[in-house]
Amino acid sequence: MSGGACERRCFPSISRSPLKEQKLVNLNEGSKASNKSLDRKHWILQQRRSLPIASVERRLVDEVRKNDTIIIVGETGSGKTTQLPQYLFNAGFCRDGKVIGITQPRRVAAVTVAKRVAEECDVQLGQKVGYAIRFEDATSTSTRIKYMTDGLLLREALLDPILSRYSVIIVDEAHERTVHTDVLLGLLKKVQDARLKQHKLDKPYINNVVKFDNECHSSNMKFSPLKLIIMSASLDAKGFSEYFCGAKAVYVQGRQYPVDILYTYHPEPDYVDATLITIFKIHLDDSPGDILAFLTGQEEIELVDMLVHERLKQLPELSRNILTVPIYSSLPSEQQMNVFRPTPSNFRKVILATNIAETSVTIPGVKYVIDPGVVKSRYYNPVTGMESLIIMPISKAQALQRSGRAGREGPGKCFRLYPESEFWKLIDSTVPEIKRCSLSNVVLQLKGLGFDDIIGFDFMDKPSRSSIKQSLQELYLLGALTDDCKLSDPVGIQMTRFPLDPIYSKALILAGEFKCLEEMLIVVAMLSVESIFYSPREKLEEARSAWKKFSSPDGDHLTLVTIFRAAVEYREKIRAATNKEKAIDKSLSRWCRDNFINNRSLKHALDVHSQIKVYLKQMDMALSSCGDDVLQFRRCLTASFFLNAAEKQPDGSYRVKANGQKVQIHPSSVLFRTKPECIIFTELIQTNQIYVRNISRAWMPELSKYYDVES
Ligand code: CDP
Ligand code: MG
Repeated sequence: MSGGACERRCFPSISRSPLKEQKLVNLNEGSKASNKSLDRKHWILQQRRSLPIASVERRLVDEVRKNDTIIIVGETGSGKTTQLPQYLFNAGFCRDGKVIGITQPRRVAAVTVAKRVAEECDVQLGQKVGYAIRFEDATSTSTRIKYMTDGLLLREALLDPILSRYSVIIVDEAHERTVHTDVLLGLLKKVQDARLKQHKLDKPYINNVVKFDNECHSSNMKFSPLKLIIMSASLDAKGFSEYFCGAKAVYVQGRQYPVDILYTYHPEPDYVDATLITIFKIHLDDSPGDILAFLTGQEEIELVDMLVHERLKQLPELSRNILTVPIYSSLPSEQQMNVFRPTPSNFRKVILATNIAETSVTIPGVKYVIDPGVVKSRYYNPVTGMESLIIMPISKAQALQRSGRAGREGPGKCFRLYPESEFWKLIDSTVPEIKRCSLSNVVLQLKGLGFDDIIGFDFMDKPSRSSIKQSLQELYLLGALTDDCKLSDPVGIQMTRFPLDPIYSKALILAGEFKCLEEMLIVVAMLSVESIFYSPREKLEEARSAWKKFSSPDGDHLTLVTIFRAAVEYREKIRAATNKEKAIDKSLSRWCRDNFINNRSLKHALDVHSQIKVYLKQMDMALSSCGDDVLQFRRCLTASFFLNAAEKQPDGSYRVKANGQKVQIHPSSVLFRTKPECIIFTELIQTNQIYVRNISRAWMPELSKYYDVES
């Protein structure tokens, strides 16, 4: 259907004058000045009522009743994510114990929003309102409003192919077009069809689309049609509407005050430094109001955080009133809520965020936005079949979303750290992730869900045939697929059960055979988090000598094992002396500081480790250790990551054996100076050069099973 038809079907947008809004309630003032004196519940209720979405509650609920699929487009901060599920709950969509599921592309959003909504509903988190993300489940049988990542819902579909628990599924932040969102959209279309057919036939569902059988199919359960709501912050509803056969699109108008856009005269050679300068310029010259600076990842955020505090020391006492708050996806959930805490009076909050603050997480109080114009994104090279994370320019749509964050509660300013001419060169909107990432995970998941014809799958944007083929080949090499491209039994089926990249799932399965699962589990947990090393610029030498005691001549993977074990041993020693969790936590933080280990990453790795352990237990995989038999572990590493083997070249660089790609060992590797003849790596990073990180010496006799090598 055409865009025009779609627009004709929309109801008029709901606009309100900014002046009126300010009279209703000034959210930020409320939070700063009178949080204590105002009854918090009353204040929250007032906040909820003042949201743009509140005045259209009835109409939205009616639209959901009338249509099985709708698309809701609304300005960030209008209340879509927090309010709509509550409206639907109150309207009876959870009768018969059914659940409203809301998917988010990012963990942080799922967690923070669930916490907020639990507070708004005045219930304990995990009861009526809960969340589930990879490695963390805060739900119970009484949960009716469930926030989760899109990836997690996909995993649920493996066990319950028609998502029978859900009456409504809201795919939030659909404009982000993450690879999981795109796969989910295709799957949900099928689930909706299946549920509708079953409903019309009034028979128990017989599953012929999906492979895994579930207990609920054998019972006489009846399934109501699945309501599907696609929510997006961008105005382009047309694509979604077309994909869902002309589904109705509904617009909720948010508030937007004018935002002054400022550009630099010249391109900035160092955007981190330019960000720092701009933070202080605003702090010293501009009126009160919080600053939101967009950075590319945890390491960069931590660096800027540290540099801000360092430079603050040079300011007069009276000007040191800056409070920095980091927010990024892998931040432990208890720390994620810090961005929503009211700023102490007379302080200026500086939020250091990744692109999650573009639309996923709405932070109140922001008046100034700093936009360096870059983002860390997945990039897939279809020629080499290798994926890496690279820092690249944002799209115009992202730049507009970023600047919009400054004008939510009043007029604001956005400092774009690039010249205006650069803005016009940006691409209009971000390319869907499915077109720029490795599809191995997607293909494995779809196979697990019973979709054998990947090329024929109903994707909103079809990935290229060649990248699908490449992924099929990779999965075949990993042993996940049979000669006729079916999921292999047991390896392929086992691999679908792990919430990990296929190559890591395979590594765990192999480690079971090689009797070094304990070590591989640690490696996978440590590689699943951002850098474990904390390396402040001015103490780099001190940090390096602290890490020396952990370093293994065999490579970074065993070094990670040693660090993990040392941390656990230390924690257990403290635990023997005290059983107070806070004291244990504090001591572990000190240990991390002394050893230049990133405390947040380590804690995250400990969490991931215990979660994967649960999966291993469910799959009856015993945790065996290879003890001092380092060779055995190297053999296993080589067998697991043979696709990532590289051979030294006469000039000291390396050539990836599978595709001929030229790479360098990253200076952070323990093997940077040793430069062994043949290595395996688990990370590829692309800056001005292509580096490989997390490296171990390959075990040649094992490698010779896959390639022609001189052992
Ligand atoms: O989804 P949308 O961007 O339309 O808005 P939302 O996430 O539902 O946010 C509505 C309001 O709740 C905003 O004013 C947020 O600042 C506030 N909120 C909050 O204070 N704490 C959270 N954890 C989440 C939202
Ligand atoms: Mg939202």
